[in-house]
Amino acid sequence: MKQIVIAIDGFSSCGKSTIAKELSKILTYKYVDTGAMYRAVTLYLIQNHIDFNNIQDVINALEKISITFKIDEQTQIQETFLNGENIENEIRVNPRVAGFVSNVSSISEVRRFLVKQQQELGKLRGIIMDGRDIGTVVFPDAELKLFITADPNVRAQRRFDELKAKGNTTTFEEVLANLTKRDYIDSNRDDSPLMKADDAIEIDNSKINQKEQLELILKLVNEKIGLKA
Ligand code: DC
Repeated sequence: MKQIVIAIDGFSSCGKSTIAKELSKILTYKYVDTGAMYRAVTLYLIQNHIDFNNIQDVINALEKISITFKIDEQTQIQETFLNGENIENEIRVNPRVAGFVSNVSSISEVRRFLVKQQQELGKLRGIIMDGRDIGTVVFPDAELKLFITADPNVRAQRRFDELKAKGNTTTFEEVLANLTKRDYIDSNRDDSPLMKADDAIEIDNSKINQKEQLELILKLVNEKIGLKA
């Protein structure tokens, strides 16, 4: 099968990683959740009491950060490791990570550090990467670019349900406020703001279910893989 790069960008909590994981299973492609990488850097800075506004301290910290991914044998779920420690749960439920990650990801040095690793991971193609700048910056030459959107209230409700299921007590209003704030910072930062690449296909999943969305995307994938296969 032809090995392509599939770039999935879009707003927070649009279900990008759910789509990416489903596709990676079907296509047996590698999957990289770049948001987890920004969350891992944020967690490191929080844990080590590093002031995000002190760029030199942030640069020094980056040298000490190693981010890796491993598939859990039992659950088959991809987990994120920071310097060898499994931080998968922590980066998803720690409200300080959600609160600061957009600020940390606005720092150009952090972006350069992670983009280089992301490009390296996708060098052999056969990869699905989700984030905010994959189709515009990380892989501008991706064969398939998807830009996922959904109504903010629908997204906040999905995220709220997810957190509640994990035992988190954050309210719906807090989730919506965090999501709106992140959308704003992600879309308005100077370095690599979230935007739809000119050649990306936009999918609004507010009113379609996961199965319908997957069918739609698989059709697009097949067109690309079939084209020059
Ligand atoms: O996808 P996520 O919610 O886990 O991403 C967390 C934050 O990381 C998001 O608010 C913006 C940032 N991010 C980014 O700037 N660029 C990416 N490629 C991925 C995430």
